[in-house]
Amino acid sequence: MADYQGRWQTVDVKVDQGIAWVTFNRPEKRNAMSPTLNSDMIQVLEALELDADAKVLVLTGAGDAWTAGMDLKEYFREVDAGPEILQEKIRRDACQWQWKLLRMYAKPTIAMVNGWCFGGGFSPLVACDLAIAADEATFGLSEINWGIPPGNLVSKAMADTVGHRQALYYIMTGETFTGQQAAAMGLVNESVPRAELRARTVALAEKLLEKNPVVLRAAKHGFKRSRELTWEQNEDYLYAKLDQATLRDPEGGREQGLKQFLDDKSIKPGLQAYKRA
Ligand code: COA
Repeated sequence: MADYQGRWQTVDVKVDQGIAWVTFNRPEKRNAMSPTLNSDMIQVLEALELDADAKVLVLTGAGDAWTAGMDLKEYFREVDAGPEILQEKIRRDACQWQWKLLRMYAKPTIAMVNGWCFGGGFSPLVACDLAIAADEATFGLSEINWGIPPGNLVSKAMADTVGHRQALYYIMTGETFTGQQAAAMGLVNESVPRAELRARTVALAEKLLEKNPVVLRAAKHGFKRSRELTWEQNEDYLYAKLDQATLRDPEGGREQGLKQFLDDKSIKPGLQAYKRA
């Protein structure tokens, strides 16, 4: 098993029983996403994607923050002071992991929102497949409070996840909301007391670990792409995804499922998964 201890300056990584715990690790800066953190996260995601021991990825934060968003000093002020072209690379790195890699990641991803979650943090939050928040977590689209409209994919992430009125309310007022409110508006799947956050996340990860990983990937990619395609394109794409999953699946899940229901009568797929060998 790979040992990631101390490999990255701003992100801590541990793989334990199939779960890759990826922890933003700048608690003294409320895990603000600096250029170094963004570049570390690209490496982390690329390393874990090829690590067979890492089957489900959980993204969380050290201390009392998930992330306080983009680093106002290192991502904004210091980059403003540098050569103009640097802006391109700095933004590209942020986008590269916050949504390009994460959104269509090859493995299931869960955002475990333990605390503060502001601004730029909404991009990776929504790019994760699932999200569980602590009731005590505080969310906010604070950009308006310090003089910019939301950038990167923050507004797109809101538009894709929560209702029109709620999105505009929080974008335009900069008011904060709790984990429970985030769950009520569909920004996260659920919210639990902070003391139960890790156990609930592990239980969800374990449920995903039971599933066929090739089929799981095709299912999540199919859903995410279907938001962007027309009905016609979707029909083609989703059938192609289905055929791809069936062809690539070393377990022959589809055959197993059909056999166990139709021939062996050992499962009811409406109520339980097929038994993986
Ligand atoms: N960028 C850079 N540094 C940040 C930061 C950010 N987004 N958020 C917090 N920090 C730094 C602070 O500057 C401070 O650094 P210092 O100790 O060197 O002075 C340190 O983290 C602790 O922050 P502090 O404000 O004292 O913590 P707090 O627990 O009292 O408050 C927050 C936490 C998250 C409410 C507050 O830090 C905050 O409002 N941060 C900005 C959030 C934001 O608007 N993000 C959007 C960015 S797009």
